[in-house]
Amino acid sequence: MENVKIIGCGYAHGSKCVTNDDLGKIVETSDEWIRSRTGIEQRTVSETMNTSDLAIQAAKMAIEKSGIDKHKISLILVATCTPDHVTPSCACLVQEALGLNDDAVMAFDINAACSGFLYALQCAAKLLDQGVALVIGAETLSKILDWSDRNTCVLFGDGAGAVLMERSQDGSYMSFYARSKGDKEHALFCDGRSLQPHLKNVDDPKPYLHMNGREVFRFAIRSMPDAIEHVLGKESIDSIDMIIPHQANIRILEYVSRKLGFPMEKMFINLDRFGNTSAASVPLALGQAWEQKKIKENMNLILVGFGAGFTWSACRIHIEGGNHHDDQ
Ligand code: ACO
Repeated sequence: MENVKIIGCGYAHGSKCVTNDDLGKIVETSDEWIRSRTGIEQRTVSETMNTSDLAIQAAKMAIEKSGIDKHKISLILVATCTPDHVTPSCACLVQEALGLNDDAVMAFDINAACSGFLYALQCAAKLLDQGVALVIGAETLSKILDWSDRNTCVLFGDGAGAVLMERSQDGSYMSFYARSKGDKEHALFCDGRSLQPHLKNVDDPKPYLHMNGREVFRFAIRSMPDAIEHVLGKESIDSIDMIIPHQANIRILEYVSRKLGFPMEKMFINLDRFGNTSAASVPLALGQAWEQKKIKENMNLILVGFGAGFTWSACRIHIEGGNHHDDQ
């Protein structure tokens, strides 16, 4: 358990809205198929902004909403599997853009796919001493998608979410759980597109994201309840006011809801509008919930995700009364 609290949130998303019908014009699919199998109605794709640009936009919103002096930021973590460059990290690009070059800032990226933001939040909670941590999940999945593959291109979108975290003295706390295991069957895999000369010797290199949907589905419905149960410990699920889950598929969330006896109405869901934005998914949803003032004092919430690797993770957040809300 860490005595930390969130003091501000922000988010950003791709500028272009792509509907299911739009995708029906480029691959053999339909609005009915996508909606009924996934719950997704549209997603946003970034045409001009790279991952760091979305991260910077989300970070600026979080700073503005929280009203903090940005020079208090001492740690920047960006969770992404679609960084702008091999190096420098997106976190360093964010630092540069925010003008924090002369401050004592540690900045680096984390790749744990869709669990990345929750991994980053846990790392920040452990690393943070004085000052404020800026923790971001940001992705431009569109650049690693094969837009002729209906198995994957209908599922994902581009976006970012950012939170500011500081040490708490008012009783607010977070507890974490994170795990990983291999993916022997390569159920969710992206080889990448460059810097891999050895791929010339491979029969079937896969430069774009490819996925065995059923396998991932099976993993998701085991790992999400596992992560939630671990952060609950001996407490009942009834003590949780809201779950903000990784936004992959509504059917996965319905399964988790049934399995844990947790009502769907208490899950924050925006996958219908944004699709799966990987590491950005949980903080983008959190940023929206925060903006809509759904995150309140004396609240207990759980953030939970799963992703390629395979990785899975959850964070239980207790917000003590009178702790935060900037009056946006
Ligand atoms: N439109 C129409 N048909 C499609 C489409 C599409 N967009 N995509 C696949 N199909 C076809 C397939 O070709 C296949 O056809 P076939 O049976 O003739 O071979 C059939 O639909 C597959 O049907 P189902 O197996 O019944 O599909 P399912 O109900 O499993 O849904 C889905 C597929 C949505 C991918 C589901 O398995 C799923 O959501 N899996 C989890 C995916 C996920 O969470 N991904 C996120 C991973 S990234 C991350 O967040 C970590």
